[in-house]
Amino acid sequence: MENGRGEAEEGYDRAKEVKQFDDSKIGVKGLIDSGITSIPRFFVHPPHSLPATATTNPPPPPGSNLIPNIDLSGFDSDRRSIIVDQIRDAASSLGFFQVTNHGIPSQVLDRTVAAIKAFNEQPTEIKAIHYSREMGRSVSFFSNFDIYRSKAATWRDTITLRWGPNLEIGEIPEICRSEFVEWDRQVQRLGETLMELLSEGLGVERGKLKALTCNEGKTMVAHYYPFCPQPDLTLGIDSHTDPAALTVLLQDQIGGLQVKKGEHWVDVQPVRDALVINIGDLLQIISNDGYSSVEHRVLANHLHQPRISIATFFNPSKREDFHGPLPELISLDKPPLYRSFTLAEFFTRFFTKELGSKSQISYFQL
Ligand code: OGA
Ligand code: NI
Repeated sequence: MENGRGEAEEGYDRAKEVKQFDDSKIGVKGLIDSGITSIPRFFVHPPHSLPATATTNPPPPPGSNLIPNIDLSGFDSDRRSIIVDQIRDAASSLGFFQVTNHGIPSQVLDRTVAAIKAFNEQPTEIKAIHYSREMGRSVSFFSNFDIYRSKAATWRDTITLRWGPNLEIGEIPEICRSEFVEWDRQVQRLGETLMELLSEGLGVERGKLKALTCNEGKTMVAHYYPFCPQPDLTLGIDSHTDPAALTVLLQDQIGGLQVKKGEHWVDVQPVRDALVINIGDLLQIISNDGYSSVEHRVLANHLHQPRISIATFFNPSKREDFHGPLPELISLDKPPLYRSFTLAEFFTRFFTKELGSKSQISYFQL
């Protein structure tokens, strides 16, 4: 018997099992609720892509701050230049930082996480009504967007919201509707502030990234990582870089997000009320490698409590506009490292491959 990838495996039809799981519309949460104690084989990753143990790395030695925490208070006054320097340092090296005093009230963070939890903890048959991979919709819910392309599936279910002029608020499930609308409003404001600070960090005009509409196209992915009975054998999200200009991520206190630093995976330890910010592939290209889009992943959740997160990907709004390294950043000494391309080409490329390492960026490299 062949599993669709040319590997002969006696009696195992991987493609069929994947389709059955997807057709069942129960997601990984549904698998857990059905009482399974081992994970289906199509979730099992090859050993080389797995962490050595299910638990995260030992905590960093006291005093070392692997993921910088940047206090945004005073960003519009006296502290602005300090903040711009801190953001530039983090964005150009690790590509990740956390922000505190970002202006989004703590209750809004909690309500957003609670709403994602409430949606996912409804009866399976109610969630199944929303389960669909149709890309044309403003809102969809499914497990593993690349399940038919990836070599191994990962342990999470996801609600995707595509914000734009066509988003029908009424399409958002009522149980989390007002919370998502509020989250969008809050994160939009923070996104604009960050775009300005990041523009200044590059030494270009404050409004530059906004003028490129980098904060106008927004996709949100709200993830639910249920308990995984064999967390050593799979992941929550495979290692990847984000197909975005900028990502703003809200995570709860469970942990499991890791960033690649050199050859090591570093934990992004949850900080109460902080948000995680990371540079995406598009901003690495626009900044001509001034900023770095860095690989990250989420471990499968070994706790009996779900892990919840919501990532907002900021992108330019028009699919037909061309993007490439900013002319201001190009000189004889610094030639462009990438060709230009439309957003349409960028996303066509992203959605035809499995979630993976830096292959998206290298595709556009000159
Ligand atoms: C993503 C992502 C991390 C997380 O959705 O691209 O990296 O903590 N999410 O869920
Ligand atoms: Ni990501």
